[in-house]
Amino acid sequence: MLNWDDPIASFSLAGQEQNKQVVNKTLTERIQSSSMQPVCADDKRVVNGKTDINQLAPFKYPWAWEFWLNANRNHWTPLDINMSKDVHDYQHRLTLEEKHVYENVLSYLTTSDILAMRNIGLAVMEKMTAPELQIYQARQVYEEALHTWTYQHCIESIGLDQGEIYNRYRVVPAINGKIQMANDKINSVLRPDIDLSNKDDLEDFVMSYLFFAGIFEGCWFYNGFSPIFALQRRGLMTGTAEQLQYIMRDEVLHCAFGIRVVNQIIQENNIKLDPKAISAMWQEAEVCEAEYANYILRDPILGYSADEHIAQFRFIANRRAKSLKLEAPFPGAENVLGWLDEQTNMRKEKNFFETRVTEYQTGGALNWE
Ligand SMILES: [Fe+2]
Ligand SMILES: [Fe+2]
Repeated sequence: MLNWDDPIASFSLAGQEQNKQVVNKTLTERIQSSSMQPVCADDKRVVNGKTDINQLAPFKYPWAWEFWLNANRNHWTPLDINMSKDVHDYQHRLTLEEKHVYENVLSYLTTSDILAMRNIGLAVMEKMTAPELQIYQARQVYEEALHTWTYQHCIESIGLDQGEIYNRYRVVPAINGKIQMANDKINSVLRPDIDLSNKDDLEDFVMSYLFFAGIFEGCWFYNGFSPIFALQRRGLMTGTAEQLQYIMRDEVLHCAFGIRVVNQIIQENNIKLDPKAISAMWQEAEVCEAEYANYILRDPILGYSADEHIAQFRFIANRRAKSLKLEAPFPGAENVLGWLDEQTNMRKEKNFFETRVTEYQTGGALNWE
C-alpha cells in the first residue's frame, strides 16, 4: 500500500537503494551519462534502434516527415459533404441489386477501417524506433478513425439498420474471409512476447505490415471503393462516392508510406522473405477478394461486374508487388477499369451540391504507382 508520508518505504530494499542512487545523482552527472549522447541520424533504425525515440531530428527518414506534411494538407470531415441526394437515390433510384452492393461495401469497410486503425496504432507504432515514422503513423491512426466515422455518417444518413449492417461481416462468410485474413496477420504480431531482435519474429512483423500496406490498404481498399465509383459514374450515390474519394486520398499515402517502411526494414536487416510465403499470401488474398466480389455482385448491376472487380484486384496487386520489389503475382493482368483513375480524381467543381470545402490539396491528383 502507498505510504503518503514515505512513498518509497514500501519498495523492496534493492529498489530503495536504486532510488536513493537516482535521487542522489546530480543534474551534471545525468547530462554526462551515456543516455545524453547526441543523436546521430545514421544510427537510427526503423525497428530495434537504440537512439533516443523522443528526439525528432536529425532525420534519417526525411521522406517520413514529408508524408506528415502532405497528410496535413488533407483536412476534412464527413460533415463537409451533403448526403441529401444519396438519401433520395437510395430510396427511389437504386435497384435491389445496387442496394445489396452499396450496403455490403459499407459493411465491409466499417470493420476494415477499425482493423487498419488497430494495426497501425497497436501493432506497428510501438515497434518503430524513429520518431519521424511514429509521427506520421499517429496521423494515420486518426485518419483511420475518421474513415470509420465517415462510413458511420453514410449509414446514419441513409437510415440503414446499424445493428444489421455492422453485424453483417460476422454472418456473411464472403465478407468474413477478408476480415479473418487480416485478423490472423494482426494477431501474429500483437502478441506480448514478440521480439523483433529474433529473426523469425521480425519476418512475421514484416509480412504482416507488408500485408496491411500492400494488400489490405493497397488492393482491398482500392477495390472496396470502385463499386461505389461505378454508381457515381451513373449519377448515383454521389455524396457517398465523394466521401470515398477523400478517404482514398488518405489511403494512397498510407499504402505508399507502409510499403516504404517495409522496404526500409528489409534493407536495414538484410531480410530475405520466403517467396513461397509471399506467393501464398497473394493467392489467399485473391481467393478472399473473389469470394467477396461474387457475393456483393452475385446479381449484375449496370456498369460493373464481379469479373471486372477480380481482374482489377490482380492488376493493382501487380503494381503493389512492383513497389515492394517483389515478382508480379498475376503476370499479364490488365487494367479493366480504365475509367477508375479519372473518376477518383474527379474535381470538386463537378459536384453541384452545396458543400463547404473546395479542392483540399493542390496538385492532389492520385498516383497509385
Ligand atoms: Fe482508412
Ligand atoms: Fe489506411
